[in-house]
Amino acid sequence: MRAQKRWDRKAVLELLGVRATRDKQALFDQADTVRRERMGDAVYLRGIVEFSNSCANDCLYCGIRAANHRVARYRLDDAEILDLARRMEGVGQTTIVLQSGEAPSREGDAALGRLIGRIKAETGLAVTLSVGNRPRDVYALWRDCGLDRYLLRFETSDPTLFAHLHPDCDLSERLRCLGDLRSLGLQTGGGFMVGLPGETLEILADNILLCRELDLDMIGLGPFLPHPDTPLGRSQNAYALDPDRHFVALAVTRLVNPDTHIPATTAFDALFPGTGRNLALIRGANVFMPSATPVARRGDYLLYPGKPCLDETGEACARCVLSRLSTLGRTVGQGPGHARRLDRPWPGQPATPCPEGCDHPPLPTA
Ligand code: 5AD
Ligand code: FES
Repeated sequence: MRAQKRWDRKAVLELLGVRATRDKQALFDQADTVRRERMGDAVYLRGIVEFSNSCANDCLYCGIRAANHRVARYRLDDAEILDLARRMEGVGQTTIVLQSGEAPSREGDAALGRLIGRIKAETGLAVTLSVGNRPRDVYALWRDCGLDRYLLRFETSDPTLFAHLHPDCDLSERLRCLGDLRSLGLQTGGGFMVGLPGETLEILADNILLCRELDLDMIGLGPFLPHPDTPLGRSQNAYALDPDRHFVALAVTRLVNPDTHIPATTAFDALFPGTGRNLALIRGANVFMPSATPVARRGDYLLYPGKPCLDETGEACARCVLSRLSTLGRTVGQGPGHARRLDRPWPGQPATPCPEGCDHPPLPTA
């Protein structure tokens, strides 16, 4: 297998379709090589605080959708979040990720801006926010408060499937948000679920190509897991009979997006208990997001079933991830681990471009 000059659907589909165990392993190894060459062996730790599970939306797959009345709704107060941020710094984490359901309000958005300002003033952490679709002026306000990054998955690149899954939003609106975030100079993360009911390999290929087209700084992807209290509770993951396809999707995402931060997402551990995130780290991922949500609230933030670490404190997750990394022979990322575009040129950057004219070094042959 050689580096692609241009990635098109046919080339991506060819990789996604690998069947033999040997070919899958060759693909995983190739993704690991590209990850090492382009992103290094350091794994950036981004502690995630799920600070509220209130949500105004009814996405068909999501456990905290508004219509799920079994969920006990909560919002952490700012003092608690600041305390979690300070503790994160104490265990070597350099980014705080603040995530919640999508519950827009002018007051809430302004309060979030003040919180971002305080975290930036009182800690050395980079701040990432992940709270859904908002108008451009709200993203601009948060940027002016010191926000570094924003995560907003597009979930699927197929407009019809997107519309079916999201009664409150369409794909063009989601892409408008991603465009606004990027044009405001925020480091922008997108991504998708793998194996949504109705997903085809063609859609999966287009998801990966859309990440490249959007030139994302971060890509979050993980298996779709049916939550029993949602309309998709009885649906199956499209790759239920071939769960390795999720890692194939991750590996191909790395090959097509060599310079992007890709986390080993929690959903991989839900599908492959105890091994999922470790395997993700050796099949293309270079970021880990330990949970820093208070234990008392973790069980109320179940987007999908089987979420790991429900009884672990933030410190326990921090220790656990360090032992995972040392087992894998990886180091902890120092500094904030900003997007590549902010710190080019980077150590190990090839001095001469690929002889084939592509934008990454030649890949080993499979
Ligand atoms: N299975 C897997 N991932 C899910 N997410 C939400 N619900 C599920 C589910 N049932 C993912 C979405 C969202 C991210 C925060 O969690 O991709 O963007
Ligand atoms: Fe949470 Fe291992 S990452 S306990």
